[in-house]
Amino acid sequence: MKNAPIGIFDSGSGGLTTLDSCRSLLPNENYIYVSDARPDGWGGLTEVNIARRASECVDKLLSCGCKAVVAACNTATEVGIGLLRDNYSVPFVGLEPALKPAVRAFPDGKILVLCTPATARQTKFKELLSCCDNAHIKVRPQPELAKKIEKNLYDLDVLLPEVEHIIEADKPDAIVLGCTHYVFLRHMFERIAGADKVFDGNGGAARRLKSILAERGLLCDRKNAGAVEFHKI
Ligand code: DGL
Repeated sequence: MKNAPIGIFDSGSGGLTTLDSCRSLLPNENYIYVSDARPDGWGGLTEVNIARRASECVDKLLSCGCKAVVAACNTATEVGIGLLRDNYSVPFVGLEPALKPAVRAFPDGKILVLCTPATARQTKFKELLSCCDNAHIKVRPQPELAKKIEKNLYDLDVLLPEVEHIIEADKPDAIVLGCTHYVFLRHMFERIAGADKVFDGNGGAARRLKSILAERGLLCDRKNAGAVEFHKI
């Protein structure tokens, strides 16, 4: 089982940014990435539909024999990670907006959280907000940004004016990219706001994956670089 692949899923390509972090930390593992390629994205769907689509991705990953699954999607994590853990026996790692590290670095600073509308309305997310000791957190749901990133993956520069506008509107001290798609724009946010001011959850998720696999004796013992396989549903 320890040499079985790790499954990663998201709506579309956003989770590739998480895959990248996982591969940097655990380069010898094999990975299977499942993308829900339907064009509507998950951030504008109902909870029932998000949970259903996440389960479809997990079913596909488990049919490929994955030993653990990373929900490389803040939206799916906020909506349904509990349900996934109840319904399946493999270990799950979720993605959470990196608000805690942002508050640690900027305890009195103005922190801007960008996320999907579905993430913003979840109780789990509201609990995260309420346990952060900072009165200057602004949550700005972005109904279209993930879709625009998906559509312009090979020409992300067209989204620079949008990034400038987001930063200009709030003039934050720190920015939390609470959707894995937004991490494709991280270099733009860093260039405009400053490299030490941008936070995302991918590094934390990769570290959590490593520790969960280690705890369960599931780290692979392969000596050479692992492979990645891609599937769409
Ligand atoms: N990348 C996902 C997230 O982290 C979902 C974006 C979408 O499909 O709207 O929330």
